[in-house]
Amino acid sequence: MPTISFCSTKGGSGKTTSCAVLALELARSGWNIKVMDTDPKNWLTSWALLKPLPKNLQVYAVPQDQLTDAAESLALQSDFLLIDVEGSDDASLIDAVLVSDFVVSPCSSSRMDALASVQVLKQVRQKSRMLKRPILSNVLMTKTAPGAIEVVLGFRPVCSLVKMDQGFSSGC
Ligand SMILES: Nc1ncnc2c1ncn2[C@@H]1O[C@H](COP(=O)(O)OP(=O)(O)OP(=O)(O)O)[C@@H](O)[C@H]1O
Ligand SMILES: [Mg+2]
Repeated sequence: MPTISFCSTKGGSGKTTSCAVLALELARSGWNIKVMDTDPKNWLTSWALLKPLPKNLQVYAVPQDQLTDAAESLALQSDFLLIDVEGSDDASLIDAVLVSDFVVSPCSSSRMDALASVQVLKQVRQKSRMLKRPILSNVLMTKTAPGAIEVVLGFRPVCSLVKMDQGFSSGC
């Protein structure tokens, strides 16, 4: 079933928070949700222990070297599999992209976050071409205006890679 990963090469852009919010919203809508926490700091796993989660939402701490196998297995057991990825450009980001149907790249109103999202979107396009299958991707604006999460839920484009590239090169 669809696998959605939250990726940025930059730390602190809102990956874990966005993943938790979407997981809860989808679970409250009745879907069977599994979340893979692949960040060695295990923030999502800690969050899941704070208070009881809906019964149809489970969070798994997954070592990065087991990401691919775990994703394959958990996707079959869920309506949506969500993957929280560490904020860096190491191999786990690539592994997450390769197993995803949709890659969300959270981005605050910071130039560094935005450049990191461009890197992710480029990786997704490249891997999608390599695998010869569509991998959707989009930027989710975080720490901006209320309602930004609707972009994820509606899978609506926020801005194109081309526009973002143009914006950054002109110093926006
Ligand atoms: N949409 C948002 N609005 C306001 N604050 C947010 C939002 N998303 C995240 N934050 C805050 O930003 C901080 C970093 O968020 P988060 O831990 O989700 O980022 P991250 O990308 O997962 O970081 P890391 O790369 O370290 O894993 C947290 O304090 C969180 O509460
Ligand atoms: Mg995180």
